[in-house]
Amino acid sequence: MTGNPFFPLEEMGFDAEENQMMVIPKVDHAIYEQRRKMVGTVVDYKEMRMRYSCAIKEVRTKFDVLNSEFNVRYRRNPITSINSRLKSSTSILDKLNRKGLAFTVENVEKNLYDVAGIRVVCSYVDDIYGLAQALAKQDDITVIREKDYIKNPKPNGYRSYHMIVSVPVFFSDQTKEMAVEVQIRTIAMDFWASLEHQLKYKQEVPNQKEIVGSLTVCAEQIAAIDEQMCQVRRQIERSEDLPTEEEILLEKLRKIDIAVGE
Ligand code: GTP
Ligand code: MG
Repeated sequence: MTGNPFFPLEEMGFDAEENQMMVIPKVDHAIYEQRRKMVGTVVDYKEMRMRYSCAIKEVRTKFDVLNSEFNVRYRRNPITSINSRLKSSTSILDKLNRKGLAFTVENVEKNLYDVAGIRVVCSYVDDIYGLAQALAKQDDITVIREKDYIKNPKPNGYRSYHMIVSVPVFFSDQTKEMAVEVQIRTIAMDFWASLEHQLKYKQEVPNQKEIVGSLTVCAEQIAAIDEQMCQVRRQIERSEDLPTEEEILLEKLRKIDIAVGE
C-alpha cells in the first residue's frame, strides 16, 4: 500500500493490518503543522542564501568592471584576484549564538553583515583606496561601515581595507538591499593574513608567543615594502617617454580592440 511519505502510517496510529481497505490516512494536524513550518523555514533559508549569493555576483561584477576600465585607460590591472564566499550555516549559527539571537532568516539579515564576503587583492596600496572610493560613489551602493586597517593596523599587524556595503538585488517579485562585506588588500597583505589565519586554527603551537612576534615583524616589513613598491611604480610611470604621434594612434587602435573584444 502506498502512503504519503511525509506521513508514515504508524505515526498516525494507523494500523495497516486492520485497515487494509483504507486508502487515505487521517492527517495528524499537529505533526502536519510542524512539518509545514519546517519546510517553510528550510525554503526561506535556502532563498536567503540564494539572495546573498546574488549580492556577491552584483558586487563582484562592479569590481570586474572597474578592473576592465582601468586596464583600458592605464594599461594595467589594479586587481590581481577576486575571491568570494558565502558564510557557512554553522558559522552563521555560531555568530547568532554569540549574539544571543535565534537562528532565523530575519535575525541573519538584520544582524549579520558578513554572510556575503568578497576579497579583492591588488598589487599596490594606492589601488586599494582608488577601488574603495570608486565603489563607494556608485549610485546604488550604500556604505554601511568602513574600517581602515591599513592606516590603523590591528595590534597583531593585520592590514586590509574593510567595507560593509548594501547593494540592491533585483528579483522577479522584489528588490532587496543586501549587505556584503568587502575586504581589499595587497598581495603581500593577503599573503600575511593567510599565514596568520593558519596559526589561529592550530590548537597548541609550541613557541606561540615567538611566532606571533615574528608575524608582527613581518607585517611591518610587508607594509614598508608595499609602500616602496608603490613609490617605485610611480617613479617608473613618471619617467616614461612621451609617446610619438604614431604611438598614440596605435594605442587608440589597441584600446578599440580591447573595448570590443572584452
Ligand atoms: P567578525 O565578527 O570576525 O566578522 O569581526 P568584525 O565584525 O569585528 O569585523 P572585522 O572587520 O574586524 O573582521 C572581519 C574579517 O576580517 C574576519 O572575518 C577576517 O576575515 C578578517 N580579519 C580581521 N582581523 C584579522 C586578523 O587579525 N587576521 C586575519 N588573518 N584576518 C582578520
Ligand atoms: Mg566575519
